Amino acid sequence: MRVISLTPAQATCASFISFIVIMTSIPKVIGVNANSTAAANNDAAIADVAAAATPKSAAPSVAIVEDESFITHPPPHYLDNGEISALFGKLQDLFPHLATKYSIGKTVKGRQMHALALTARSENGKKVELLRPLIKVTANLHGDETLGRQMVLFLAQYLTLNYANVPEVQQLLNTTEIHLLPSCNPDGFAAAKEGNCESLLNYVGRTNAAGIDLNRDFPDRLENQQVTQLRSHRRQPETAAIINWVLSKPFVLSANFHGGAIVASYPYDNSIAHHECCEESLTPDDRVFKLMAHTYANNHPIMRQGHSCNDTFTDGITNGAHWYELNGGMQDFNYAYTNCFELTIELSCCKFPTAATLPAEWARNKRSLLQLLKLAHVGVKGLVTDASGYPITDASIVVSGLEDKPIRTTKRGEYWRLLTPGLYNVQALAFGYQPSEPKQVHVTNENSEALRLDFTLSPLETNYDGISSFYGQYFFRH
Ligand SMILES: *[C@@H]1O[C@H](CO)[C@@H](O)[C@H](O)[C@H]1NC(C)=O
Ligand SMILES: *[C@@H]1O[C@H](CO)[C@@H](O)[C@H](O)[C@H]1NC(C)=O
Ligand SMILES: *[C@@H]1O[C@H](CO)[C@@H](O)[C@H](O)[C@H]1NC(C)=O
Ligand SMILES: [Zn+2]
Repeated sequence: MRVISLTPAQATCASFISFIVIMTSIPKVIGVNANSTAAANNDAAIADVAAAATPKSAAPSVAIVEDESFITHPPPHYLDNGEISALFGKLQDLFPHLATKYSIGKTVKGRQMHALALTARSENGKKVELLRPLIKVTANLHGDETLGRQMVLFLAQYLTLNYANVPEVQQLLNTTEIHLLPSCNPDGFAAAKEGNCESLLNYVGRTNAAGIDLNRDFPDRLENQQVTQLRSHRRQPETAAIINWVLSKPFVLSANFHGGAIVASYPYDNSIAHHECCEESLTPDDRVFKLMAHTYANNHPIMRQGHSCNDTFTDGITNGAHWYELNGGMQDFNYAYTNCFELTIELSCCKFPTAATLPAEWARNKRSLLQLLKLAHVGVKGLVTDASGYPITDASIVVSGLEDKPIRTTKRGEYWRLLTPGLYNVQALAFGYQPSEPKQVHVTNENSEALRLDFTLSPLETNYDGISSFYGQYFFRH
């Protein structure tokens, strides 16, 4: 557990649940690494006494304990699919204003693919306010790569249990909507064996119940349409569910956890040359992806060193294709077919480490996770509307220098365009409307939310020939 200082004013509203503890002084700061079970019990005991003895209002300097009891109570173990369902149900019951449980679909064997959406809603409002970016954190696409699955479950508990008392968490859930999918492959997980560092024979556990590697089963930007068509007929239910999910929500940023290495990998995972490895295949948004990858790696004490599992990755990050080529992967699907920028994050050398390692792994990954989630607020965001204020759906936001990756507006006319600091020209284009003037923006990413940049578009005027003035400009210009 970590102890956090708070001002007395903040502390007075921190009494809503029994595990929140208020003390007049900070007895000690304990990391989750060191004997966490003993430490947790110990700390709680000390804190109970302190809380009972201390009138809250009189406290000159107070502290609250950040609640991380979920790491050790119950003792660390991997939750099975039924337990995930129960946990998400419990979080929804306890925190109805924060958590919504749902399922994105079913596996080959009929298991639900459980998801949890987290965002702070206003008292009565069901509808989330405009321009709150959507993030997703997914794991366990390879069913025997399990650490990420448990990190996602810890994250769900950390964010809900600490919303009321930790300003950083409050800020995050007040300004973003975070969707968690702890297992993309529940059937694979059920077949995998704890303690196995490598995949079983015939990749049982890595694949889904039909023996398919789901991270090769997504539409690929480099395959021709006939191949995509053919492959779509054989698409696995898990892949289809993920594709529908990713296409149906305007996700902006995503992390996808794997295991068997320790590195943050960014797109693309393949190239036109289809070399096996060792050649970069970069997206137009390489600067944003490197920012995302560095953010995760730099905050992870082992990943940032770049020497793990007999691999060397400078600063703990790599371009996917440079590492090794893969086709039909989920990461490239996200970037190539949607507005979502996804990283593939490998968390451990051992694919299915024993549960005893989970507390220490949470400690290593927590800061990385929180910092990565905050990156949903870099760049610019805004609304594209017509002159009467109606949202324009599916308008393109085009940034100078990044023309190859237009971002599309949502049904509500919203867009988010992740950018690293710099000067950019941004333009909005939509079918049936005149293109906006390019707007120059200076992105610094120094604010807690993306820079606001709205566009109002005018409809195309049609002349007596029925030829729009927009095309007129192009056809009849001298
Ligand atoms: C954890 O606690 C045990 C028993 O109390 C002790 O022997 C061990 O040295 C402790 N380990 C660490 C890392 O503090
Ligand atoms: C989060 O939102 C709630 C409700 O609007 C507000 O009371 C609280 O101050 C906000 N917290 C932060 C850190 O912005
Ligand atoms: C690293 O390589 C050495 C030599 O090939 C091998 O003995 C060792 O088990 C490997 N370690 C890991 C973590 O893969
Ligand atoms: Zn994997």
